[in-house]
Order: sequence, then structure tokens, then C-alpha cells
Amino acid sequence: MNELSNSKELYEKAKLYISGGISSQIRTLEHSKVPIFIKKAKGSKIWDVDNNEYIDYIQGMGPNIFGHAPDFLNNAISNEIKKGMIYAAQFENEIEVAQKALKILNADNWTVRFASSGTEINQLLIRLIRGYTNRQLFIKFEGHYHGWMDSINYSVHPDLEYAGDEISPIPVPESTGMDILTSKSVIIARWNDIEHLNKIFEKYSDNIAGVIMEPILANTNCIIPDKSYLESVKKLCHNNGSLLAFDEVITGFRILKGSAKEYFGIEPDLATFAKSFAGGFPIAMLSGRNEIMKLVGDGIVYHGGSFNSNVASIAAASASLDVMINDNNFYEDLDNKGKKLMEGIEKLSHELDSNIHVQGLGSVFSISFTNKKNIKDWREHFNYCDENKYKIFCELMFNKGIRLSSNGRVHLSTAHTSEDIDLTLKAIKSTLLKLKER
Ligand SMILES: Cc1ncc(COP(=O)(O)O)c(C=O)c1O
Repeated sequence: MNELSNSKELYEKAKLYISGGISSQIRTLEHSKVPIFIKKAKGSKIWDVDNNEYIDYIQGMGPNIFGHAPDFLNNAISNEIKKGMIYAAQFENEIEVAQKALKILNADNWTVRFASSGTEINQLLIRLIRGYTNRQLFIKFEGHYHGWMDSINYSVHPDLEYAGDEISPIPVPESTGMDILTSKSVIIARWNDIEHLNKIFEKYSDNIAGVIMEPILANTNCIIPDKSYLESVKKLCHNNGSLLAFDEVITGFRILKGSAKEYFGIEPDLATFAKSFAGGFPIAMLSGRNEIMKLVGDGIVYHGGSFNSNVASIAAASASLDVMINDNNFYEDLDNKGKKLMEGIEKLSHELDSNIHVQGLGSVFSISFTNKKNIKDWREHFNYCDENKYKIFCELMFNKGIRLSSNGRVHLSTAHTSEDIDLTLKAIKSTLLKLKER
């Protein structure tokens, strides 16, 4: 077991001043008895205050696509912030970042708006789809996460006992204290089933402003749908005068130059980005067809925010995009690292007759324990994945210096080395053997 006495001490102190001793709920789900306190992080590694070293696959829940504290980003930012941080006015670098983002996304007829977090930008997205269509309802899928605000924080990972039947799922709030009236505006659907969605459109057709989804379901098993499913959803939306919006907060700038839009060759009407966009600095972006975005531009759909396009985040986004645009091997290298890890895990699964299961892409994938070959939506995850076994697996891995996310998602960074991957596979092997003994 890792020695964690310094973290324990700081946690006790933190609880006196910070509610629960943590600043985001998921941090209680560290695979230790206490949330760990971090001393420093660099590249693929993170060190806690007890000097334990971990190979980190959480990587800030995804933003650190270059690993922790990349020198080139720190340098780019420290030069820029000498000139100021928040102007409450425009500056030229923003235009460059918008141009670079649209270039990498290959989206000529799109424009963008910046904000600071994925949660925040998805609120603007919801407001815009309503504003553009003049309709109130939108469709959100079980197992998808779009931030923690009342309007959309339903049925992310609901207990199926409360989630309604397969034909008509009901919105399950993820927190007490939510404005339950918002549940009247969100239609919860099962994902990856076009017949089911057809029926929902038949029922609510003229009232549906749009469909919001993670095009690759990073928040549940990193599920990759068939292209034909996404094509059908787009057609269904457009036949009904509704908009299709991709939440690319995880997939954006991570999986491919053009993100999921390019991966599937399907252009949504609107898309949101955050996380990997600026290598760990807080920035988010709404983008889409100019004809729709114009409503935000004209102020008809209101958007504000003191921290929008702050100097540090814009500098970080600019430097990140330069690497992504100019390094032709960037995405292939990142993907290959993850694939090596995925293939290694699959091999161990066969060798040790374990039901450890990987799904997703190299740059971001998920680990779970299931006897199913493939998980295709939240209900399958709930029914067939052994979350308790995954939790024990993570606790054992944590004590071997491998830090995995409580939600099963593995984030690769360019800083992860072959040695990191080999060490991780070695730790997985001994952990799976240990699990067999239990
Ligand atoms: C797909 C998706 N959308 C939105 C969000 C919310 O982003 P943020 O944590 O920056 O508010 C997340 C966070 O993990 C996410 O995974």
C-alpha cells in the first residue's frame, strides 16, 4: 500500500476550509482511502505529497494531451501574460486561434465563440439550438455527459431501477437540488438505436430543437457508433427541422485533426470543444454553421463571460494548435501509443483468461470488466460491466504506481513513453493475476 500520511493530513486540514476537502466531486473517487494531494506533475508522471510517483492516465480528465506542464506551452503563456491577462476587450491572437481551429477542423463556413469550460459552452449550445429553431425540447442520451448544469445533468449514469423502461426512458437527475422543471425540456433517449430515436421523433417531432450527443461515447466505454447511425440521426434531425450537435469536449483535437467530424465524415450543425484544445488551460469553443452562429454574433442569443478568451488560454490554444497542425505524425503517434496499450491488454485478457475489456481509440479508450464482446450503450454497460471489479483493479494498480480514472477512461498523452506502456502492462498482468486469486 502506498504511504499516504501527508495526503491524509492535508485532507483533514482541507476539510476545515473547503467543503468535503475537494473542489470537484470526482476527486473523492481516487483509488486510495483519501483524495491524494499533488506536489508536482510533469509529462506522463504525477507525484503526491508523500513522494509516490504515478504514471498518470487521468491527465486532468483529458485536457493534458501533451502531458503535464509541457515546456513549450508554459513558455508560450509566460511570455504572453506579461502583457496582461483579461482585457474585457478583443485582441488579435483570438482571431488567429479561431482561424487555426477552423483550419484544423476543415470547417470553412463555420464561426466560433470561446468560453472557459465544457459545461459552460454546452449551455450556450442548448440556448442556441433553442434560439435558432424556436423550439424548447432537446434530446439527450443515457450515458452521455455534457457538464453538470441543471438543464442537462440527467441520466448520465442512471441506476436502471429508476430510469424507465427501454422504450421510454425517463430523466434521472444526477443531483439533488436540481431545478426539476428542466426535466420537462429534456427528452432522454437510448443511444445507438435508430428505431428508438425514430419513435421519439414521431412523438415530439415539431417540438424538438435538436439532438446533442457525444459522437464517440467517451463517458461510457468509449463506444464508437456505426457511421450509418450518425448519418441516420442527422437525416432524422434535418427532416424534422431540428439541429444535430456534437459534444466533442473529449474527442475534439484529441482523436484526429478534424476530430469526430472528420473521423466519421459527418458534419454536425454545431459542435463544442474544450479539454485538449489548449493542453490543460481552461478554454472551450462553440462552433458551427455561420448561419446558426449568427444569432450569437448578433446578440439575439446572449453569451457572456469575464474569462472568455483570456490571454493565457488563448496563448495555450494557439501553441497547441500549431503543434497539431504542423506535426504530421502527431495524431498517428498518439494513437499508436494507446493502441499498443490496448493490444497489450487484449493479449493479457486471452493469456490470463480474464474478462478485462478495452474499447475505443488509441488516444482515448476505456477499460472495463465484462464478458460481452462489445458494449453498445449505457444500459449494456449497467447490466454487463462489473464496476466493483474495475474499482478493485484500479486500487491495486494505484498501489503499483499507475493512476487510472474512476470512470474507466484512459487518456494518452504525447508524453507517455514506450517504457510507461511496458510498465503499465506489467502492472496490469500482476494485478489480473492477483484478481484471479480473490
Ligand atoms: C463530453 C463532455 N462534455 C462536457 C464536459 C464538461 O466539461 P468541463 O468539465 O470542462 O466542464 C465533459 C467533462 O468531462 C465531457 O466529458
